[in-house]
Amino acid sequence: MIFSTLEIKGDSPIYEQIEKHIEKAIQTGALIKDSKLPSTRETSSVLKVSRNTVMTAYENLESRGIIYSVKGKGSFVKIANQSSDQGIQIDWSKKLSHYGTTCENMDIIKTEYRYEKGMISFKSIAPEGNLFDTEEFKRAFLDVISMEGEKLLNYGYAQGYRRLIDYLMEYMQGKGVELKDKDILVTNGFTEGLDILLSAYTVPGDKVICEMPTHHTTIKMMKAYGLEIIGVSMDEQGVRVDELAEKIIEHQPKWIYLTPSYQNPTGIVMSPERRREVYKVLIQYKMTCIEDGFNEELLYSGSHVMPLIALSGSSNNIIYLGSLSKILFPGLRLGWIMADKNCISILESVKRAKNIHTSFLDQAIFVQYMSSGAFERYVKKVRKYYRDRYLFMIEEIKKYIPYKKIYGEGGLHVYITLNDNIDTRELLEQCYARGVLFMPGDIFMANQSRTSSLRLGFGKLEHHEIVSGLKIISEEIQRFTNDK
Ligand SMILES: Cc1ncc(COP(=O)(O)O)c(C=O)c1O
Repeated sequence: MIFSTLEIKGDSPIYEQIEKHIEKAIQTGALIKDSKLPSTRETSSVLKVSRNTVMTAYENLESRGIIYSVKGKGSFVKIANQSSDQGIQIDWSKKLSHYGTTCENMDIIKTEYRYEKGMISFKSIAPEGNLFDTEEFKRAFLDVISMEGEKLLNYGYAQGYRRLIDYLMEYMQGKGVELKDKDILVTNGFTEGLDILLSAYTVPGDKVICEMPTHHTTIKMMKAYGLEIIGVSMDEQGVRVDELAEKIIEHQPKWIYLTPSYQNPTGIVMSPERRREVYKVLIQYKMTCIEDGFNEELLYSGSHVMPLIALSGSSNNIIYLGSLSKILFPGLRLGWIMADKNCISILESVKRAKNIHTSFLDQAIFVQYMSSGAFERYVKKVRKYYRDRYLFMIEEIKKYIPYKKIYGEGGLHVYITLNDNIDTRELLEQCYARGVLFMPGDIFMANQSRTSSLRLGFGKLEHHEIVSGLKIISEEIQRFTNDK
């Protein structure tokens, strides 16, 4: 009986104590909707209070819409328990926006084969963690935290940490960039830089020209923003200029997105002549261009190739997105946008709206590390390491893989087109069954069309793993060709 736990006490009116007791019983689920309350007679007898008191309590509850009465039958609970688990289930996938659906559907971490312990994975193009300069970095951390810890742990500025901005301005000047009327916004890596740019300057339906194949994340983000991607093919020198001009005329795109150095996935480094030709086309058609400089620091040959933004002199049509994710530490998520001052001022507001600013502590450690001279020493070391690895990869690919073409000049990956129109998506299925993973070419196509190309990342693999992995891929190619 619901009232067996009610103990009448204190100065508050008894009818109020009865009301509260019933409300609590509804809240805790002891009384559910439409359940019958004990009659006023029964309750008065259990509680040893007058029947009128109980009737007052019931009348008050009824006037507040908590219970209802049915003539000749008694009183019933009118409301449902608000807090108990009534078991409603939202189908979150049905509530998704276009943005969310695209990010979910194109999330290759979830949709592609997963690495399992013991496999040989050519999937990643992340740098080798064992090369990281953790001791120097630790020193930089201790220095900045003792010098300006209180400042760094407080709110900072959306544009970035001043010392880092100044450092990066000078750094870009070293690449030949004319600094007049340019500025920098610090971002959480290239990826956030592109996100800020796309959200500030595009609307669904806008067209963007990209090298094809291109970076999967870029394709995903552009599609999430509802942009139409127009692909332009590449040759050994970089994006094809004739096709670029044709597609500009045909599609009137809002942006051109290019990765001139160690393009992902091809590894192609656009030649200096091609850069000049591309720039001429951009000027001729007054095009705005997003230059992805993510891999520029890896230059194996050591000879400096000017970024497009350096060719642009005092023009303001190139927006350069920098990242040190490949040459340094991707986990820090630091990158920058260099562009026209007015453009940076707008992007700064977008950045502030998105996430206030990039971690000041991280920026300060980073610039301290960079200014110590450790960076130059580190770059020398990793360039040599990756160049040796790359040359080893090429040698072994030539030994084992029946390729039509090996692209590019380096980076942390090699892109190959196979003989015999082998569908690398199907090949991957076979290789995965034997513990080898790679990136099939369709991932880098805007329309996800099947290709006979594949990307092999090697930054984190030992020589013996490279050899064993390539042998398995080679055997599966053989099987594939025999089965045809
Ligand atoms: C083409 C391209 N741009 C940029 C990046 C780096 O992105 P983030 O700086 O966000 O790590 C990558 C990483 O793989 C890439 O492939």
